[in-house]
Amino acid sequence: MWPLQPGYDYPRDQWYVAGWSRELNNERPVERWFLGDPVALYRDTDGKAIALEGRCPHRNYPLAKSIIRGDALECGYHGFTFGPDGRCVRIPSQEVIPAVCRVKAYPLVEKWEWLWIWMGDPAKADESLIPDHDEMRLISPGWVAVPALDRVLKCRPQLLHENLTDISHLAFLHSGTIGTEAIAATKVEVTQNENFLRGSRFIPDETLTGFFAQVLGYDGPVERLVLIDFYAPSVHVALESFRKPGGEVIGEFRVHHAVTPAAPDRTNYFFAWSRSFAIQDQGLTDTMNSVFAGAIQQDVEATEDIERMVAAMATPTELLVRADDHSIRARRWIEKMIEAERA
Ligand code: FES
Ligand SMILES: [Fe+2]
Repeated sequence: MWPLQPGYDYPRDQWYVAGWSRELNNERPVERWFLGDPVALYRDTDGKAIALEGRCPHRNYPLAKSIIRGDALECGYHGFTFGPDGRCVRIPSQEVIPAVCRVKAYPLVEKWEWLWIWMGDPAKADESLIPDHDEMRLISPGWVAVPALDRVLKCRPQLLHENLTDISHLAFLHSGTIGTEAIAATKVEVTQNENFLRGSRFIPDETLTGFFAQVLGYDGPVERLVLIDFYAPSVHVALESFRKPGGEVIGEFRVHHAVTPAAPDRTNYFFAWSRSFAIQDQGLTDTMNSVFAGAIQQDVEATEDIERMVAAMATPTELLVRADDHSIRARRWIEKMIEAERA
């Protein structure tokens, strides 16, 4: 992974978002790719979410094209059947089932609307390592959280991480909706605690865009605080806090971006957001969903465009400036995780 070495793409012993709870049922498996591997996701008869390696060991048919039989997956090609622990329980053409005939079963945990998968060593899959959903304001009193959308991007995961940690792009790529010139002009302060790497910007005299004035029901001068918290290696949570001069809060919302590598050049992106004002207002939810969807489409196009550029360079280079501090520290954090696993 640029700028890391090829074949050195992502840490495996980590929790990643695999999808939304609402996607899974006991009728049809879902196929998704994580860290270079196919996975078949479904629910057993008790409703428990299951993640199995998504490639049949017989002739490599996609296991997500299986029929769900009770708690098991029956491969759609020759009927080999795999239980939720990955063991083969039936080969229609013979009695004996070789022990090697099995698929991996990945730890999968549901929290809020997110499914969290562990693609690494299952013995290390400690649920307490999943980022705190209360701290992220996905399940907090006084907040409403919206599971919004997902995409698969044709770019390396690092490009999306760097889009999300470098919000100076808001002023240009998203000008007029969520971005203002002041975002780019304000210095980012970067701090680290044991959970996240934070980039903070405080704008004492921000002018609201029409979108923000509409959703906040306020169009006077504001103080704007933007915090971007990166929970390595997979989630970014941004707080936008708008206050009247002097500090009274007008409205706050958070956006939650889960970045799950699909392959070295493909990235799963799961986007949610939450707010602490007008939490019953469905019209406001619809308006914000539509503006966020537009902004995300701009980010998808930008990162895929950069991927085309970088992929065509024999030796990728870049020119870093002060505003890249947060992105570069986030990059190093992921790199350290990869190196720790290698060691
Ligand atoms: S490929 Fe799955 S049973 Fe043959
Ligand atoms: Fe963006």
